Amino acid sequence: MRVLVVYYTQSGQLKEIIDSVVAPLRLDSDIVIDYEELRPVSDYPFPWGDAFFDCFPECVMDIPCALQPFSFNPETDYDLIILACQSWFLSPSIPIASFLKTTEAQRLLRDRNVITLHGIRNMWVSAQEIIKRKLLATGASLVGNIVLADRHNNWIAAITIVRWLVHGKRGPTGILPRAGVSDADISNASRFGEILIDSMRTGNYDDLQQKLVAAGAVRVKFDLLLIEKNARKIFVKFALNVIQRSTISAEKRSAGISIFKGYLLFALFLLSPFISVIFTIAGILIYPVARKQIRYYQGIVLKS
Ligand SMILES: Cc1cc2nc3c(=O)[nH]c(=O)nc-3n(C[C@H](O)[C@H](O)[C@H](O)COP(=O)(O)O)c2cc1C
Repeated sequence: MRVLVVYYTQSGQLKEIIDSVVAPLRLDSDIVIDYEELRPVSDYPFPWGDAFFDCFPECVMDIPCALQPFSFNPETDYDLIILACQSWFLSPSIPIASFLKTTEAQRLLRDRNVITLHGIRNMWVSAQEIIKRKLLATGASLVGNIVLADRHNNWIAAITIVRWLVHGKRGPTGILPRAGVSDADISNASRFGEILIDSMRTGNYDDLQQKLVAAGAVRVKFDLLLIEKNARKIFVKFALNVIQRSTISAEKRSAGISIFKGYLLFALFLLSPFISVIFTIAGILIYPVARKQIRYYQGIVLKS
C-alpha cells in the first residue's frame, strides 16, 4: 500500500502532527509513505512580524501563490492521500489552497481516498468546508478528517498564537501557556493512525470517520463554530474591500489591511469573550440544533 502525505508547515508543528499520526503506518512493512512538502516560490516569513496581515485578502479570496515543482508523480496509484493543512484567516492556508488548484493535484486526487489533517489554533470548519468542495470538484473521496487544535480558552490561545506567529515567542512564559497544539495531543495522535491502518488493511473506509470521531479526532465547540461562521462572512467583505483598494494603490491597500487588523484585534480580544458566553448559552437553549450542527462538522459529507 502506498500513501502520500502533502503538507506545508512554517514552525514544523504540522510535520510533528503528521509524524505522530503516521507512526503506526511506518511500522507496517506493507505500507510505503511518500512526502510532498509544498514550497512557495516566494515563501511566507516566519515569524511574520508586520507582514502577518499582508496575505489576508489573497487567503480569504482564494488567490493562489506559485509553488515550486512537485516531486510526486500524479499517476502513482496511491491508496491514500493525507492532506495536512492549517487555517489562515478562516481559510485553507495559501500554499494548500494553491496546491489544490494545480493540474498536478487535480490529476493526483481524482478517484483517490483522501484524509484531511488539520493542525490549527481552534478555527478550522470554514477552511474544511472549502477543502471539501475542492476535493469533490477533483473527484477525490474524502474518507476522514482529523483536527488537532490548541485546547486553551479562545482568548488565551489568541494571545499566545499572536506572540508565537508574529514575534516568534512560543512560550510558556509567566502565566501564559505554550502556544499551539500541546505535546500530549500531538503524541496521542498516533491512535488515529492505528484506526487508519484498520481501514487501509480492509480497504473499507465507510466507518472510518465515525471511529475517528469516537476516538476524539474532531472536537467541535458550538460557541467557536458560531463565532467562526459569522466572522467568515465579515472577513469576505473586508477582503473584497482590500482587493478593490489594491487596484487603486499600495497605500490604499495598506490602509484597508490596517482597518481589518484593528477590527480583528478588537473582535478577538474584546468582543469574543462576551460573544462566547452568549453563543454557549444559545447552544444550551437550542441544544438539538447545536448537536445537529456539531455532528455535521464532525463528519465528512458536504452539505449540498
Ligand atoms: C496568517 C495566519 C493566519 C492564521 N489564521 C488561523 C485561523 O483562522 N484559525 C486557526 O485556527 N488558526 C490560524 N492560524 C494558525 C495556523 O492554522 C497554524 O496552527 C499555525 O500557523 C502553525 O502552523 P505551522 O505548522 O504552519 O507552523 C493562522 C496562522 C497564520 C500564519
